[in-house]
Amino acid sequence: MPPAHPRPRGDMGDRDPRDGEPRSAAVAILDFGAQYAQLIARRVRESNVYCELLPGGTKAAELVRRGFAAVVLSGGPASVYDPGAPSCDPELLECGLPILGICYGHQLLARMLGAPVERAPHPEYGQARMEVHRAAGVLAGLPASTTVWMSHGDLVQLPPPGFEVLGRTPSTPVAAMGHAGRRIYGVQFHPEVVHTPLGQQVLRNFLLGVAGLGGTWTMHSYVAEAVAAIREAAPSGRAISALSGGVDSAVATALVHRALGDRVTAIFVDHGLQRQGEAQEVLSAFRQAFPELPLVHVQAEERFLARLGGVTDPEQKRRLIGQEFVAVFEEEAAKLGPVDFLVQGTIYPDVIESGATGQSSATIKTHHNVGGLPERMRLRLIEPLRSLFKDEVRVLGEELGLPSHLVWRQPFPGPGLAIRILGEVTSERLDLLRHADAVVREELADHGLGREIWQAFAVLPGARTVGVMGDQRSYGDLVAVRAISSRDGMTADWARLPHEVLARISQRLVNEVPGVNRVVYDITSKPPATIEWE
Ligand code: XMP
Repeated sequence: MPPAHPRPRGDMGDRDPRDGEPRSAAVAILDFGAQYAQLIARRVRESNVYCELLPGGTKAAELVRRGFAAVVLSGGPASVYDPGAPSCDPELLECGLPILGICYGHQLLARMLGAPVERAPHPEYGQARMEVHRAAGVLAGLPASTTVWMSHGDLVQLPPPGFEVLGRTPSTPVAAMGHAGRRIYGVQFHPEVVHTPLGQQVLRNFLLGVAGLGGTWTMHSYVAEAVAAIREAAPSGRAISALSGGVDSAVATALVHRALGDRVTAIFVDHGLQRQGEAQEVLSAFRQAFPELPLVHVQAEERFLARLGGVTDPEQKRRLIGQEFVAVFEEEAAKLGPVDFLVQGTIYPDVIESGATGQSSATIKTHHNVGGLPERMRLRLIEPLRSLFKDEVRVLGEELGLPSHLVWRQPFPGPGLAIRILGEVTSERLDLLRHADAVVREELADHGLGREIWQAFAVLPGARTVGVMGDQRSYGDLVAVRAISSRDGMTADWARLPHEVLARISQRLVNEVPGVNRVVYDITSKPPATIEWE
């Protein structure tokens, strides 16, 4: 049966001049201030559908004009009946685009379509069992009962006229609802979080089933999109790119090189805070993969160490390193002649944790590639990875032809080993930590755990302890070992390393690294701890 509301044609069937992909593949995610809006975007992309995040109030006519083929309304912290609560354009409900409302988006749909939304007598947070009334629409193929993740204080009591209840939980009478003819669906739960085990299927049901999208978008198309956007942002002028040794800056540099060719110069700042062998590894990998890319190696170890002398406060360290980075770039820029742009490998978790999303998330740490940039900086920023999560960055890196040993290396923070040395950073303490870190990573690689572990490293907490070595009292350094598993660095759990691996690491550290006489293993997850110690 043809849908009651035919899809608007707009310029949908046309080829997008930007990347040659049909525009009909695009989904608009209207953001009502959700903590998880980017996560929705990521899950949509995992279903091979291109999407963009837009403000909640974006006009329906604008969405149709731009050829979006479906709309997702995100969650958000407000109550739909609050004065001034964010809303969407009422035209949206009439324009024929398929719509999926999630949490706040679900309540907004209900209210706009004439159904009551009320404060829940028992707010529901965490996992709940949803009874599936009809496994159709967005719930197609789901079993009679399934686990969903809830986080809401309001609820929809009754479905709007013409809508069918598809699922309910003991506390939520309308946990999922839909109108097949109008292709409008709402779910009270969060399909985008991993705690809803079949959440991805719900999203795919909407995107591929209800909205009939092809699901053919890939990182390959993302490259084309990103290249076009970078060219648009930098139609002329020169850029410099901050190559730090980590995956993010490597991928950002490769991407901008693809877009701007030799209009970008990569600058590798040897701040002396890298891991063992890192500088040479990065430089030779880049020279081999991108022989056309102008690449400058700045040796600035002494300068950074001098700046860090006597500094013990973690935020102060991050700020100083960030400032020094910028100063070095500015100096290099001056040597290259006029330069207009600075490329940085900022990724989405950095943006959230630096409180830079414009939402209310608190500043946990000043990631030097977001905060710490002085106002006086004269270069404009190009941050092409700002909406990507780490695993997406890796896929992108491979797509761009970076060698896999570079792409799959563990994340490494911009301020380097400085934030793993608690207290003052000196060249002796750096040498000790570099050595210890190499032992930890070597052992994991030797035991085939290299890729399974998100990050593994050594920390120098600055504690000295008493030991006994060869009948002599020793008073040496404590080294902490941190190994974690994570999907995107936003949350993490300590890795359950086999005891024999821990034993081997400990034995090697005290035997091979001069000055170390004790080893501890960090068994804290994130939250409440962060991955890095500072
Ligand atoms: P935290 O310690 O905040 O770390 O749990 C999350 C992830 O980010 C990395 N990290 C940084 N990356 N600049 C970066 O580029 C920074 O200033 C920075 N601080 C932490 C950290 O290694 C982990 O992967």
